[in-house]
Amino acid sequence: MEQRAHWGSRLGFVLAAAGSAIGLGNIWKFPYITGENGGGAFVLVYLLCVFLVGLPVMVAEILIGRTTQSSPVRAFRKLAGEGSNWISMGWLGVASAFVILSYYSIVAGWSLHYTYLSLTGNIVTLDPAEFEPLFGSVFASPTLNLGWHTVFIVLTMAVVLGGVSKGVERWSRILMPLLLTMMLILLVKGATLSGFGEAVDFMFGFRTDKLTAAGALEALGHAFFSLSLGMGAMLTYGSYLRKDDDIMSASIIITVLDTGIAIAASMILFPILFTQSMQAAQGPGLVFISIPMAFAQMPGGGFLAPIFFGLLVFAALTSAISMLEVVTSSFIDGKNWTRKKATLLAGGLIFVVGIPSALSGGTALFGTNIENVIGMNWFDSFDYLATNWMLPLGGLGIAIYTAWRMDEAIRHDHFLAGTKLQTFYKAWLLLLKFLVPVCIVLVFLHAIGLI
Ligand code: TRP
Repeated sequence: MEQRAHWGSRLGFVLAAAGSAIGLGNIWKFPYITGENGGGAFVLVYLLCVFLVGLPVMVAEILIGRTTQSSPVRAFRKLAGEGSNWISMGWLGVASAFVILSYYSIVAGWSLHYTYLSLTGNIVTLDPAEFEPLFGSVFASPTLNLGWHTVFIVLTMAVVLGGVSKGVERWSRILMPLLLTMMLILLVKGATLSGFGEAVDFMFGFRTDKLTAAGALEALGHAFFSLSLGMGAMLTYGSYLRKDDDIMSASIIITVLDTGIAIAASMILFPILFTQSMQAAQGPGLVFISIPMAFAQMPGGGFLAPIFFGLLVFAALTSAISMLEVVTSSFIDGKNWTRKKATLLAGGLIFVVGIPSALSGGTALFGTNIENVIGMNWFDSFDYLATNWMLPLGGLGIAIYTAWRMDEAIRHDHFLAGTKLQTFYKAWLLLLKFLVPVCIVLVFLHAIGLI
């Protein structure tokens, strides 16, 4: 038996896990859904979801990983026993990784393309009216989407090939400080814009009339997505921890960082929008249409645009790494393959599954034809399936298993090991037993239209 790989340091783990959490979900998705849901009230509900539902599930995932020293499928096999139905939770995680990474890579590809465009000076020279058709043509181009999809998956594979401490951890140590610095530069710019005050009011002014049930449920689903939960990514990263590592403190740090970055991203984007008198509710096009349009009109935009799109690429890359690592690690654990063989096969398969998403805008087959049958193109249906069904189901399974099925002695012992925050045990278990499952079931009832 080969010895299980471990992180080189505690900081390395925190950076890698924060890298997984901080992604397109924070910079691309959180600001636009906040905009669509009217700001303040949505932000408050999101914060409650993150700390009362997300954080307990994160602790549970990392704990299962560290206890079993295994990727999701083998973890449930070890805990619940050979032949147990719980093992399907592990498989669900592997399937989710395929579904999410295959369309995530397409959005990452747009970020790469816009980084390239802004570095070559092709963003700031455009007229305002040209940005919508530009994004439309990028979305519709099979060549561009397939090309950047290939580049992005190859980059992700290159990091995962290096292994846990020499690949994932090393790159997280390089990319995360860069990401935080770029964020800070943009935030300073945001704070000096005239729209900053309006943005603060939009984000933190509490307007109860904007609070809706649909918004609350979207907030919960997004909390799972943003914290990388429900898929076994945190479980897999946790499996590279040693028993004396502190799960509770690390989870709090990761959660605070992830939430801080999502809010910071909004405090960059909304001041830019409001300064140009643009609307907050822009939908998914916000980052690829309105923001480049604003950069083109803003002093210093030519310098800031590549920083912003580069930031998106780095954020997407460290998240994609964690998704590929789930599949790779499952192949290594389950089939005894070498890391090289496992990475090449996992990456290759994910590349293939991503092709229909890459062609969603450019071909009738995966665009309008599919849309006529199920009402969404391939790309959108993958996002819908993963965020509304697969991740909450995975999170529900992990919460119920940990709170109701796991051996109390093992659970208690592993929660306490390595942490000074031992008093949190009772509260954690209570949330995991009751609040977490109830909230997730509400999401399902909403998704099938019952509430
Ligand atoms: N959290 C990442 C983001 O916000 C996406 C992500 C990475 C993810 N790994 C995951 C989502 C695992 C769900 C499960 O962009």
